[in-house]
Amino acid sequence: MARERSVYRCQECGFAASKPGTCPDCARTGSYVSLVEERAATARSGMRVITPAGNRPRRFAEISGEGGERTATGIGELDRVLGGGLVRGSLVLIGGDPGIGKSTLLLQASRTLAERGGPVLYVSGEESAGQVKLRAERLGIAPDGLYFVADNDLQAVEAHVAEIAPRVLIVDSIQAVFLPGLESAPGSVSQVRECGARLMLLAKGRGMATFLVGHVTKEGALAGPRVLEHLVDTVLYFEGERHHAYRVLRAVKNRFGSTNEIGVFEMAEQGLAEVRNPSSFFLAERPTGAPGSVIVASVEGTRPLLLEVQALVTPASFGTPRRTVLGADYNRVCLLLAVLEKRVGFPLQSQDAFVNVAGGGRVSEPAADLALLLAAASSYLDRPMRGEVVVMGEVGLTGEVRAVTALGARLKEAAALGFQAAVVPRNNLRGGAAFPLETQAVGSVDEAVKTLLGP
Ligand code: TYD
Ligand code: MG
Repeated sequence: MARERSVYRCQECGFAASKPGTCPDCARTGSYVSLVEERAATARSGMRVITPAGNRPRRFAEISGEGGERTATGIGELDRVLGGGLVRGSLVLIGGDPGIGKSTLLLQASRTLAERGGPVLYVSGEESAGQVKLRAERLGIAPDGLYFVADNDLQAVEAHVAEIAPRVLIVDSIQAVFLPGLESAPGSVSQVRECGARLMLLAKGRGMATFLVGHVTKEGALAGPRVLEHLVDTVLYFEGERHHAYRVLRAVKNRFGSTNEIGVFEMAEQGLAEVRNPSSFFLAERPTGAPGSVIVASVEGTRPLLLEVQALVTPASFGTPRRTVLGADYNRVCLLLAVLEKRVGFPLQSQDAFVNVAGGGRVSEPAADLALLLAAASSYLDRPMRGEVVVMGEVGLTGEVRAVTALGARLKEAAALGFQAAVVPRNNLRGGAAFPLETQAVGSVDEAVKTLLGP
């Protein structure tokens, strides 16, 4: 019999210790969080074992694969990120900032799921039935199979599930539901973990797909829900800039699909609208012939995406030049400015540099290097890029332009959006394949600056 023993747990990151004090993990990032006592035996009381009778190791050939049974949510961008629809009995965590549109997305998804997949039960621990009904009416959602209950007691939720026997359960949010038997507050690590474990048993036991909504803290971590990441099948993040209409749904973990897919949405009057062609969305307000503006053909996961990179380089008024970067990695931009200074000879030490990706977009891959560098060079020279071109290429410290992945997909996307020419790394053209647009090969940043910005 296990002795009842206290565990001291950090409410931010889940760190557990046998003694009280502050969390050493969080202290490293500068925040001092007290460990909260919880009793180990209480925390385990709700656990059950799900071993089927006659369980034994079997040969792979005897095992039948599962995960094939999928239901479309009716939202193509969501289906894509899920790996081709919602898998029966899967547990999906959707994280994101408050107000980003998690509830809206799931409400919209429940329409088709209720029409095609059988009853859907939407449990809200945050909003009343009246509030959600009002939103559903505005979005024109009223299928027969959609049930709603405002509740935050997990045992009551289990009873509702037993009554309705839904095919899909939505828990909005995991921080709002709690088990009254546990001493800690709703949203605390032990509550979230215990409720998550109970909901997993429910989902797997009934073959009921379950969405868990998790709010992100202002620090950017899925604080409470982060402890669920290992438990759930799929973790999706819903992100975007508050002041921009576009939202990106990204898979961080997916047991039933690739984590490379993204879904792009726009928050409109009538809820979330799918953005089928994100590139044209990001390029909509692009100025033509303006210095400091360069179009990059980037790839998000497996999906090509054209973005506009902008730079403003102006003489610095104080000793140390300022570097401000939005939508790209700060250190990467500093590195590229140093390469531009050393390899092309621009005196950027005396210049402030501001870099931004238009429309609230984000570039995260090295293939965007050349575009960032050319945007800075174009602004410094106050000279626009020659012609309507898209740019791609990784930049090395010696000023060489290195090959990129998925060249074909990038060029196809650029051609689809009406671009006539592309600047590509010379190493990418070794094979001599045919491309849908004119390609201009460059081998170094010096060469790229001379050909595209030269007099
Ligand atoms: P919501 O889904 O409640 O966010 P979350 O569940 O992630 O907290 O979305 C709330 C925001 O979305 C809110 O600020 C209003 C906006 N919104 C629209 O702009 N149009 C709409 O049709 C809906 C339903 C919401
Ligand atoms: Mg919500």
